Amino acid sequence: MKYSIALVRGDGIGPEVIGQAVRVLDAAGGIFGHAFTYEEVLAGGCAIDRTGAALPPGAVETCRAADAVLLGAVGGWKWDSLPGGQRPETALLGLRKGLGLFANIRPALLFDALAGACPLRPELTAGGLDIVVVRELTGGIYFGEKGTRQTEDMGLLAYDVEQYSEEEVRRIGRVAFDMARKRGKKLTSVDKANVLESSRLWRRVVTELAADYPDVVLSHLYVDNAAMQLVRAPRQFDVIVTGNLFGDILSDEASMITGSIGMLPSASLAQGNFGMYEPVHGSAPDIAGQDKANPMAAVLSAAMMLRYTFDLRAEADAIEAAVKAVLDAGYRTPDIFTDGMKCIGTAETGSRIIERIRKP
Ligand code: IPM
Ligand code: MG
Repeated sequence: MKYSIALVRGDGIGPEVIGQAVRVLDAAGGIFGHAFTYEEVLAGGCAIDRTGAALPPGAVETCRAADAVLLGAVGGWKWDSLPGGQRPETALLGLRKGLGLFANIRPALLFDALAGACPLRPELTAGGLDIVVVRELTGGIYFGEKGTRQTEDMGLLAYDVEQYSEEEVRRIGRVAFDMARKRGKKLTSVDKANVLESSRLWRRVVTELAADYPDVVLSHLYVDNAAMQLVRAPRQFDVIVTGNLFGDILSDEASMITGSIGMLPSASLAQGNFGMYEPVHGSAPDIAGQDKANPMAAVLSAAMMLRYTFDLRAEADAIEAAVKAVLDAGYRTPDIFTDGMKCIGTAETGSRIIERIRKP
């Protein structure tokens, strides 16, 4: 089979980590008999430098024409002084909205070999951590009405509107229930229904959906309590579903408690099989171009792409197992290096993963 992938290498370490993900994909393709073709898409800070726009005309269309999108990272201090509407991050929001990527899947997995990197006391994580945050990605306060206006007595006023429709909540709720059904059958919906009207709607719609999923245990938490529970007793969580802003915050928290935010992949899915896959980490301009970046999150994002968009489960399993085997063999990029381990660079990490890809 042939699969077409739009590559948004982006800024900072983005090009380096995507370079390794492509090597790994091609190697897995060779072993399993698939061909991947790539279409380069310019977006982010590099696109601002070359064309003046973070998301140049045609970028969304090129991505849409592909079967899936693989993205490195966008942004960096070079563009930090640009006004809000022109920053590299707008490319990310434009791709999400333009491609209808409403469901953001962010697994927070504690790798056995990296258990020591977890900042929580060992007794809190004994037995491992395997949480998935399902974040609504194209609605809420990120995309509600926003603006500023001059007031008479209080100076300038700025506002961003948080809003959700029943249909928006229902479709993300279904993704989360389906995910919970395939995993530990526990779903925690996070909102702020004690204060926000949009959260009361969220809670009602998620509760209604539960009737279709009698095998999944649903619970609700207020976001402040959820943030606290994640560090107090993280093993109570299986799948967490929440809105765009709460999901942004909680997914960073969930990934940090695994101690390896640089290791984590993500998927942003549209209705159907289309998706955009990217490491959770940012562009890390301070180490860009030095062969120091950890490409594992990008490689694992490619594996998620194989699993979710292409339904190539054995291939995804093989890549994930190869990453785990590299860690078990003691190889570490500087971000996860500890005494006694073997420190290696970006490209060598790619090679070590490739060596360990096996057909079952
Ligand atoms: C993320 C990032 C983005 C977000 C930023 C860069 C716009 O923090 O993907 O979590 O807030 O969604
Ligand atoms: Mg974020």
